[in-house]
Amino acid sequence: MIRLGVNIDHVATVRQARRANEPDPVAAAVLATLGGADGITIHLREDRRHIQDRDVYLLRETVTTRLNLEMAAYDEIVAIALKVKPDEVTLVPEKRQELTTEGGLDVLANIVNVQGAIQQLKAANIHISLFIDPDPAQIDASAQLGANAIEFQTACYSEAKGEVAVERELEKLRAATAHAIGLGLHVHMGHGLNYWNVQPIVRIAGVEELNIGHSIVSRAVLVGMERAVREMKQVMQEHYPNPRKSR
Ligand code: PXP
Repeated sequence: MIRLGVNIDHVATVRQARRANEPDPVAAAVLATLGGADGITIHLREDRRHIQDRDVYLLRETVTTRLNLEMAAYDEIVAIALKVKPDEVTLVPEKRQELTTEGGLDVLANIVNVQGAIQQLKAANIHISLFIDPDPAQIDASAQLGANAIEFQTACYSEAKGEVAVERELEKLRAATAHAIGLGLHVHMGHGLNYWNVQPIVRIAGVEELNIGHSIVSRAVLVGMERAVREMKQVMQEHYPNPRKSR
């Protein structure tokens, strides 16, 4: 079976919308694990818009499966990763204005930075994955730099419209997977995967891990809504001073 890494960044997004204590991504990680997650994925962004340093340290203590830290190859974040020692680091590109990670890492254009980060993190026994587009030149460069794995950016696939475009993107992912495996790389995929478009992806031979966040957190909000409202109504009913006046 393919491993499922559950990305819980958006639990932290809801918390940060109020700068409050809840919902706590640490609690979400426990529940995701009870649900069968094979790993927990978090992205410590330079702007700290969702996951905070405190989350990273606490998750390192509490995640009982695998902790995958997504991060840009910035010195400040590399230093944190070296302290925390996640099971895996996935190097991603990062732009301040973007809503989410856009496009894969251009390994060739950032070779000095990426190579420096890989060397330091690998020396600390951290498994390295590079989040790249399914492009042969990027795959070759990832293998040459000594990455253990690559995660193919599936945004082009998940945003493709129409059967022909979807099939074209799937074919790119299939070919890229075969190419990467031929070079000895482990293959992961992620971005924009949901309960429908994940189906053809799991049929691609050789894929070992999917990292999925937005669709799972979105579904969690909806499937949990009815129970959350019922529980609030119950608390209100129990504490209402004159039950006969309640409607
Ligand atoms: N993998 C990587 C490298 C990502 O940056 C993200 C988004 O943070 C994901 C997977 C998960 O994407 P989504 O939230 O669209 O499922």
